[in-house]
Parts: sequence; C-alpha cells; structure tokens
Amino acid sequence: MVAGLAAAEVYEPSNVLPLSPLFGGAALKRALMLGLLFAGCVPHRDVPLEEIPKITKLADLMAAQSTIADPQFKKIGQASYTDADFVAFVDVGKRISATSAHIKDFSKGPGFDELAAQLGRNADALASAGTAHDPVQASAALKEMKTTCKTCHSKYR
Ligand code: HEC
Repeated sequence: MVAGLAAAEVYEPSNVLPLSPLFGGAALKRALMLGLLFAGCVPHRDVPLEEIPKITKLADLMAAQSTIADPQFKKIGQASYTDADFVAFVDVGKRISATSAHIKDFSKGPGFDELAAQLGRNADALASAGTAHDPVQASAALKEMKTTCKTCHSKYR
C-alpha cells in the first residue's frame, strides 16, 4: 500500500509535472557546486609583499594574484568607495606591482613581458588612486587590470 503510493508519486505524470520547478533548484545547486569546484582549483595564497619575489612557480604566482586581486574586481564601476576600500587598493596595487615584476622571471617572450609590464602599470595606477582616494581612477585601474589578466590568459595560458 505504502510502496504503491510511493510509485504513484514518482510515476504519475500529474505528480511529475509539478516537480519541474525543482529542476531549476537542482540546476542552481549544480552551478553552485561547480563554482565551488572552480574556486577550489586555485589555491588561496594571500602572499605578503616581501614574500612575493620568493615564489618559485608561475602557477603559484598566479594563484597569489588571484587571491589578492579577484575580490577587488567586483568593486569595478562603483561611484564611491569606503576608506577601507582605498586602503585595500593601495595594498593590492603594491602587491600586484610586485607580482607583475616577478612574472617576467617566467617569461614566454617579449609580448608576454609587455603584458606583465602593463599589469604593473595598472597596479601602480590602482595604488595611486587608493592614496589619492580617487574613485574614478580606482575603478578604471581595476577594470584595466582585469582586462590585462584576461588578455594575457587568452594569448599565453
Ligand atoms: C603576462 C601574462 C599574464 C598576466 C598579465 C596574468 N596571467 Fe594569470 N596566467 C598566465 C599564465 C601563462 C598562466 C598559466 C600558468 C601555469 O599553469 O603554469 C596563468 C594562470 C593563472 C591562474 C591559474 C593558476 C593555477 O593555479 O593554475 C590564475 C588564477 C591566474 N592566472 C590569475 C591571474 C590574475 C588574477 C591576473 C591579473 C591580476 C593574471 N592572472 C594575469 C599569464 C598571465
């Protein structure tokens, strides 16, 4: 009796159809899990400024860049920032300046080195925007930095 009821609940089209909104939930859960998997691929490396030149592998240097810079990218386009944001921009600018200088130690040619140098300029612009508490320059520097990351990945990764 109970088993028959369970089977009816599963197989009756009238019972299956109302379940379809749940597939949206399942798809969302899958997407979230996939997001966690991708986040898990890049190790968290919150490397202090003075430790950056000691990194021995390009993948580790990139993981550090991602840990340091990625949380800032969601601030692109804001009209204003908090004092804490500006402090973070100075810190991130200085550290990405250091990582970009170190990228050249893993050179893949002149075009690669130029993109590393471009990342350095973006980082310096971000640090100076942070010091000046300039929201327009900060947002622009973050946007350009993100573009530089993507441009290099599409060519050399
Ligand atoms: C000059 C070129 C260049 C720039 C600029 C660059 N990347 Fe990369 N990135 C690479 C290359 C090449 C790889 C592949 C490295 C490998 O697997 O050895 C890579 C890999 C990565 C990875 C994967 C690391 C891993 O654990 O396998 C992440 C994350 C990453 N980059 C983040 C960033 C971020 C964030 C920025 C900008 C702040 C950035 N990269 C800028 C060239 C670049």
